[in-house]
Amino acid sequence: MATHSYTAQDLETYLQFAIRLAKMAGPVIREGFNSRFTPERSALLIKKGNSADLVTEWDQKVEKMVRAEIDEHMKGHSFIGEESVAAGEHGALTDAPTWIVDPIDGTCNFVHGFPYVAISIGLTINQEPVVGVIYNPILDQLFTAAKGKGAFLSTINQDPRSEGRRLPLSHPHPPAPLPSLSMALVAGEYGSDRKAEIIDPKVKSMRNLSARDPLPEPSARKVGHAHGIRCLGSAALNMMCVAQGQFDVYWEIGCWEWDVCAGIIITREAGGIVVDGCGDKVNDAQLLTGRRFLVVRACSGNDGSILPEDVAAAQKNIVDEVWSVVENLRLKRE
Ligand code: IPD
Ligand code: CA
Repeated sequence: MATHSYTAQDLETYLQFAIRLAKMAGPVIREGFNSRFTPERSALLIKKGNSADLVTEWDQKVEKMVRAEIDEHMKGHSFIGEESVAAGEHGALTDAPTWIVDPIDGTCNFVHGFPYVAISIGLTINQEPVVGVIYNPILDQLFTAAKGKGAFLSTINQDPRSEGRRLPLSHPHPPAPLPSLSMALVAGEYGSDRKAEIIDPKVKSMRNLSARDPLPEPSARKVGHAHGIRCLGSAALNMMCVAQGQFDVYWEIGCWEWDVCAGIIITREAGGIVVDGCGDKVNDAQLLTGRRFLVVRACSGNDGSILPEDVAAAQKNIVDEVWSVVENLRLKRE
């Protein structure tokens, strides 16, 4: 039972607040990104759990700054942030309005100077994502959405009276329904946990998403023979490529609620769907914390040319096809 009520005006206030946070964080992230050219570069990296799980002093600085603003201006709201959880906070998801933040998604890109880096700011109420802001300050791309109000791409310097470009980018025309995985551009990631028991089934899944021929028995699963596989190195920005209609599908096992919370509401408002990565039927709370995600792009506009039931059926076909080719991998929440 939903315990927290809110109005459309509340959502607008939260959205504008999240945009303000992204605007504050942008220059700080950019400064850190550019500091790789300075002699202090070697001080940039702080190792987390393993050599592929990276965090820098900039991740921590940005999260501290954002959290201080939330604590000051959003009294009674909860906070779950990647670095706070890494530092030992419990980060339990409840019905209370909860800001779920990744200060820098794409930290590995950040360290290497690959410009797919973003702050991801999501808000859940009753454990449902209702506001999302994802900002890539290197490319100056601001993705925003609030439940029921559509998703938009703009830039920080844009005229504040304009909402930006409505997503997907083909708007107002619907992107054509995707007939099968064999016509799809798919995003997937290796993730940061490279233990054999985790990476091997992921690689097998990516292989099957893209392969023409199934593996020999007994491990045979179906194959997708997708047009291509891409890894941007940022879950949030992979999702934004789906929201824009540039990627058709994104599949990942292993990321966390802060990687996807904002992305879920932006993708949904852009007409896409986000479901469990391997075939479970889940509610939003289970989806957020389940660490397995499958995202499928929109195939509807608001011109009414495709019936909602046909849209849902086309998206469901793709979901079923992905579930039939990927391994059923379940990861723990430590
Ligand atoms: C990671 C990125 C990466 C994904 C990992 C995430 P981080 O987040 O989104 O693309 O594969 O699962 O943990 O560590 O850069 O914030
Ligand atoms: Ca991060």
